[in-house]
Amino acid sequence: MTYLTGFGNQFATEAVPGALPVGRNSPQQVAHGLYAELLSGNAFTAPRADNRRTWLYRRLPSVMVGGYAALDLPLWKTGAAGGVEVPPDPLRWHPSAAPAGELDFIDGLRTMVVNGDAEAQSGVAAHVVFANRSMDRRAFVNADGELLVLPQSGRFTFTTEMGVLEAGPGQVVLLPRGVVFKVAVDGPSTAYVCENYGAAFRLPELGPIGSNGLANPRDFESPVAAFETVDGPYQLVRKVGGLFWQATQPHTPFNVVAWHGNLAPCRYDTRHFMTIGSISFDHPDPSIFTVLTSPSDTPGTANCDFVIFPPRWMVAEDTFRPPWYHRNVMSEFMGLVHGQYDAKPEGFRPGGASLHNCMVPHGPDTEAFAKASSTALAPHKLDNTLAFMFESRWRFRPTAWAMRPGALDAQYADCWAGLRDTFTP
Ligand code: FE2
Repeated sequence: MTYLTGFGNQFATEAVPGALPVGRNSPQQVAHGLYAELLSGNAFTAPRADNRRTWLYRRLPSVMVGGYAALDLPLWKTGAAGGVEVPPDPLRWHPSAAPAGELDFIDGLRTMVVNGDAEAQSGVAAHVVFANRSMDRRAFVNADGELLVLPQSGRFTFTTEMGVLEAGPGQVVLLPRGVVFKVAVDGPSTAYVCENYGAAFRLPELGPIGSNGLANPRDFESPVAAFETVDGPYQLVRKVGGLFWQATQPHTPFNVVAWHGNLAPCRYDTRHFMTIGSISFDHPDPSIFTVLTSPSDTPGTANCDFVIFPPRWMVAEDTFRPPWYHRNVMSEFMGLVHGQYDAKPEGFRPGGASLHNCMVPHGPDTEAFAKASSTALAPHKLDNTLAFMFESRWRFRPTAWAMRPGALDAQYADCWAGLRDTFTP
């Protein structure tokens, strides 16, 4: 499988030679009898640096579907209204057992936390997906937001209008708002998903870091044009305003023979993340680990930052090396793809999750504090680990599913119970 490289690049790709018009977008007659169709990721008049759009050259245009009927997906929640009120406790979840039955990527999605309002184009949701079945002749399109998928186990193949991407644990896939896709799995597979109703994820500014570092643009990979040739009906599931609709169309939606533009799905391997940390003293703010950011209308205050805690060396001198105890106006949903997280070596398990909302105090557990306060500060590598955070300016509300009996780690707050007052005046 081949990919086009570069985040937000102006790509041009054709599965049949000559399918792409040259020097224009919408000729009177498109080569090979194709239809031209524009997919806009933002208002036409968005600033050039933010503007994302792609021209699709396809066998039939997307208008060839109608007659939508309501589809009930009661465990996929949207916006703050989809959550429940809970006390301001720190929350942690052990990994959930996979639900029974045959579930594809859409049926198997369970929302854990939500904020914002999809109709107001602000906020995010964090989901977990348990899939054991491929979508075959079923496709999905989300008008409410883009999807950032983090495989946690298994292999995922994403067939999209722009082509095919594969990803497994350690990689992430970004599916833009409005792009039709389906997902195949090779067996029971799990993933974390961030659904972003706000401004599209982009690379963060680097400031004094300079022109290189963190996630480098060239390491993002988009698919080359590819189309299905098998005839027959397709079920199309559409999400809009938190509701789901389904319709059958007589042909595949994956019929794009060529495309050009800078709105495209992409994947990224977190092993390519150039991690920056202290080479003198003190733990930097975790914003140094930002892979992608969705800005809000307040500069520096993200609708959502996607942050990873990958393998890295700890070398700081005279420093408490794990994250410090803190409270923050931003709200933090975390997950663990594999390995151990240094502030919570026990209890925070791969496939699990935690939530520290606005101003909820948190930090290293008793054991991690004791060890990090007394250990000899030799260079030390945190290896074989990948934790991540969806950090948002909007407070998260867990869903009723996330708060179902037995789901929470009821002992979570006990991890700090052993901290003692060691003040000696
Ligand atoms: Fe935190």
